[in-house]
Amino acid sequence: MIERNHPVLSVGAQGHLLSISRSSFHYAPQGETALNLDRKLRVDTQMPSCAPSAPGLETTGFEIGPDDVAEAMGWPGIIGLGEMMNFPDVINGSQQMLEEIAPTMRAGKVVGGHFASPDRGIPFHAYVAGGPSDDHEGTRESDAIDRVRQGMRSMLRLGSAWYDIKSQITSITQKGLDPRNFLLCTDDCHSGTLMHEGHMNRAVRHAIACGCDPLIALQMATINTATHFGLERELGSVTAGWRADLILTSDLRALPIERVFARGISVAEAGRLTVTCPHYDWPADARATVRMGAAKTAEDFAIPAPNGATQVTARVIGIVENQAPTRALTADLSVTDGKVGGQGEVAQIALVERHRATGDVVNAFVSDFGYTGRMAIASTVAHDCHHMIVVGTDRHQMALAANRLAEVGGGVTLWRDGQELALVELPIAGLMSDRPAHAVADKAQALVAAMADCGCTLNNAYMQHSLLALVVIPELRISDKGLIDVSRFAVTDLFAPTA
Ligand SMILES: [Fe+2]
Repeated sequence: MIERNHPVLSVGAQGHLLSISRSSFHYAPQGETALNLDRKLRVDTQMPSCAPSAPGLETTGFEIGPDDVAEAMGWPGIIGLGEMMNFPDVINGSQQMLEEIAPTMRAGKVVGGHFASPDRGIPFHAYVAGGPSDDHEGTRESDAIDRVRQGMRSMLRLGSAWYDIKSQITSITQKGLDPRNFLLCTDDCHSGTLMHEGHMNRAVRHAIACGCDPLIALQMATINTATHFGLERELGSVTAGWRADLILTSDLRALPIERVFARGISVAEAGRLTVTCPHYDWPADARATVRMGAAKTAEDFAIPAPNGATQVTARVIGIVENQAPTRALTADLSVTDGKVGGQGEVAQIALVERHRATGDVVNAFVSDFGYTGRMAIASTVAHDCHHMIVVGTDRHQMALAANRLAEVGGGVTLWRDGQELALVELPIAGLMSDRPAHAVADKAQALVAAMADCGCTLNNAYMQHSLLALVVIPELRISDKGLIDVSRFAVTDLFAPTA
């Protein structure tokens, strides 16, 4: 329920909603609380388009279809269709995709893009022709240029662990493309980042540090965004009759946010809220959503070797620091007591079904987190299916971590040698907290420190952890259907033929 692009520069997470999740839309506050908030703070939303993200490759707890999209286009505060992640079906003209895009366009709203493929040929052109008019998945300068050449708006992204502005801003600063076709965005942000570094203000500062003219960076976060979403008659300029959503700053490069006005009301000064945010009482069915059946044991995470092999070649999900895509790797692993486990840089990963209590567990391998010792980390934030993902070097620790999340109703937990080192409770749908922002951020920072204590030296690798089940970003992911080769949009075998 956090907007990808907000035309106002944020001073950071001052509210109570900490975990950013595209799929949390289903639990969005409605009614009086939302109206109270809306009187001061504007939150616009894009209707999710892809639950599941890729039909047939995953099972979600809830499905969104064309009728849902058509209805939502009439709701206040819906400014478009959220990222069309199922790009193969858009390219192939699938009925469902067309039936979601059509009512969005009829309502005069924006169809958001997500073309997470290096392809720039006919399939890419077909995707653009299908309706998506922006994209935030570019990672290279040529990605930004090719999107703008196709008439899209290129969203340059700086999340907690997605560093895609520096590599693409040169399309403006060096290649001279018209910056009006570029927006800044954050995509996923860690609560610690929001509290201690900022949100869109962080992205603007970063763009400036990468050589962008400060006024152009500000335009990419304000008027360009308002124009793209058809809100320029209300937002994006300081003009009589427009909404007075403003920041005051004394330095256009360092960009200290000294005062914030929302709809003409002063709401924050020197980093502190000066108004009271109403508390939203979440409905009971938003809680206790971790339904995974019987308690897990180490045996649930055992990976039997095929046909009595003593050595196997396994497909391995390779983490890439500060990037959303993964690499499809292979590793030669030895067999002990008929089972294959993680070795060296290779750890085990499991997807634990948690919506329908099927008891299913899918096991695979992941590498480059750097974990050592006997540990496991589990999370119920797993875009966008939000099953439970467990990564560990030891099957007993994996079971302890999974069971702990069932006990607390979701969140993130890290275990080593039978002890819990860190826990972030996210009791609202297993995705969000209703605790104050600073309290959640402190726990999230403690989790990052505990990950480092277990050997992980990557920048904010929890963000990569939370995307390991997102089966629409190449190259290799995990789902309740198995190991997914996103380059082919197909389930693939865990073991590769031995050379
Ligand atoms: Fe995306």
